[in-house]
Amino acid sequence: MINTTTNGEIDYSDLREKLLHNKDKPAIININIGTTFKGAVDDINVILQTLEDCGYSHNKFYIHCDAALSGLIVPFIKNVISFKKPIGSVTISGHKFLGCPIPCGVQITRKSHIAYLSRNVEYIASVDATISGSRNGLTPILLWYSLSSKNQIGIQQDVKRCLYNARYLKDRLQQANISVMLNELSTIVVLERPLDHEFTRHWQLSCVRDIAHVIVMPSITRETLDDFFIDLVQKRKMWYQDGSVKPPCVADDIGAQNCACALHNGQYIFL
Ligand SMILES: Cc1ncc(COP(=O)(O)O)c(C=O)c1O
Repeated sequence: MINTTTNGEIDYSDLREKLLHNKDKPAIININIGTTFKGAVDDINVILQTLEDCGYSHNKFYIHCDAALSGLIVPFIKNVISFKKPIGSVTISGHKFLGCPIPCGVQITRKSHIAYLSRNVEYIASVDATISGSRNGLTPILLWYSLSSKNQIGIQQDVKRCLYNARYLKDRLQQANISVMLNELSTIVVLERPLDHEFTRHWQLSCVRDIAHVIVMPSITRETLDDFFIDLVQKRKMWYQDGSVKPPCVADDIGAQNCACALHNGQYIFL
């Protein structure tokens, strides 16, 4: 297991240390192109360089890129995922950014890996590479429909709007002196955990320790973000007004520079 930095990315120096420590074994590395909670994107180039520096030749490592959510976001901002690089596979989920109504996804891998895993199934007179020996026939149609009805330009517009809206929410929270973090290639706004369970339930926020996140998807409008922001600011006034309870310190989770707690950023300004 490799450590991560506070923004959720792989800690590359820890990766280097562990690679050197396990040099007698091959490395199978899962790279996240958008981690679940913080939307952190691991740097493929740094990881490949680290492998090379540690003496791992191409046949001594396998890299899988888990791009479940951000696989349809990141390529429109920065061209980081490419089979021109020595990666083994990439996966994306169809029911996340694309919004397909049934869980589905795409795994792209090299022909050589497919050939290695495929077996001839005599009774269907065909070669099969699936784990279960079968697959859902409807989900590829849903994926195809979603991709072709939006097309590349439509997805690009969704990405642009989501990034813009995520930055908008982050800026508003920051201006209101609320702890917040947004990774560069992400639409996941990480903020302090709201005090009240009713509030998190109402806004369907998922929380871990003292942080929560808002995933700005194509269906989320500016109005929804404004309503959320206003509600949060008003509720915080009630939660924290007498000073007996203070907003949580989230420096360990999102970094001191993003933490607006009394220790890291002085007094809160209630708008
Ligand atoms: C980083 C990451 N990988 C994988 C998954 C799971 O994807 P799927 O729902 O397509 O199995 C998720 C879902 O939350 C995720 O955030």
